[in-house]
Amino acid sequence: MPINLKNYHHIVVLTGAGISVASGIRTFRGPGGLWEDIDPMIYATHEALLETPLMVWKLFGVLRTQLKTHGPNPAHNYLADIEKQLSNEHQFTLITQNIDGLHLAAGSINVVEMHGAIQRTRCSNEFCQLKPFEDDDPHTEVLPTCPICHAPLRPDIVLFNEFLSEDVERRCHTALLDVDLFIAIGTSGVVYPAASFVHSAYRKHARTILINLEPMDPPNPYFMEETIGKAEECLPELITV
Ligand code: OAD
Repeated sequence: MPINLKNYHHIVVLTGAGISVASGIRTFRGPGGLWEDIDPMIYATHEALLETPLMVWKLFGVLRTQLKTHGPNPAHNYLADIEKQLSNEHQFTLITQNIDGLHLAAGSINVVEMHGAIQRTRCSNEFCQLKPFEDDDPHTEVLPTCPICHAPLRPDIVLFNEFLSEDVERRCHTALLDVDLFIAIGTSGVVYPAASFVHSAYRKHARTILINLEPMDPPNPYFMEETIGKAEECLPELITV
């Protein structure tokens, strides 16, 4: 059933890797997903960063190279357009698990990048004074080191077994407090805490909707409605302002 955003006041959209497929970026799971070739528990963890930091760059640095030529697609653009059409009466929060920065590139405004941003680099030493900085070097060949403390530099993203930032936790919590419409797009719904947001929304009596290429496996009973299809095709038909 089509959704008119103007009927809701606290709208939360959660996106995952599926929304960037039409931009030419691979998903992690599902058909053709990155984790079919690579075990994330070996290469995408905090422990991997400590033991083999260059492997972390080899895995994620390639996304920096791709992003030089791959931009937002119609799904990113559509979400940015509808946010701009809403008045101040409607709070719209776009929470993304993606690290590709494509929602901000498309012009979305109230974006929470839960898992960080691949375009930024920071020091792996949490006590170091170096500020995260914009960096487009993929660092896939030589491990970069901090100019201040000489610890390895790392992409400013959240790996498995790492915490979300306090700011991200606070913004997600605030967005979900009074949510009355929750739409998840292009996510397999297996990585926490994002996977639990639908439950929070359901408990708030929000309308909860999943738009994904495949049904959730196992099915998630907290989604009241499910549309199976490509985000870039479904969004304009399903969501209006
Ligand atoms: P996944 O790769 O787990 O799931 C992507 C989902 O998108 C799959 O269910 C696909 O079927 C679906 N999909 C593919 N193409 C689509 C399209 N055109 N339109 C709509 N859906 C489509 O991605 P996430 O759920 O985002 O963490 O993964 C969550 C986290 O796991 C990621 O943020 C990443 C990963 O490990 C970190 O990097 C920290």
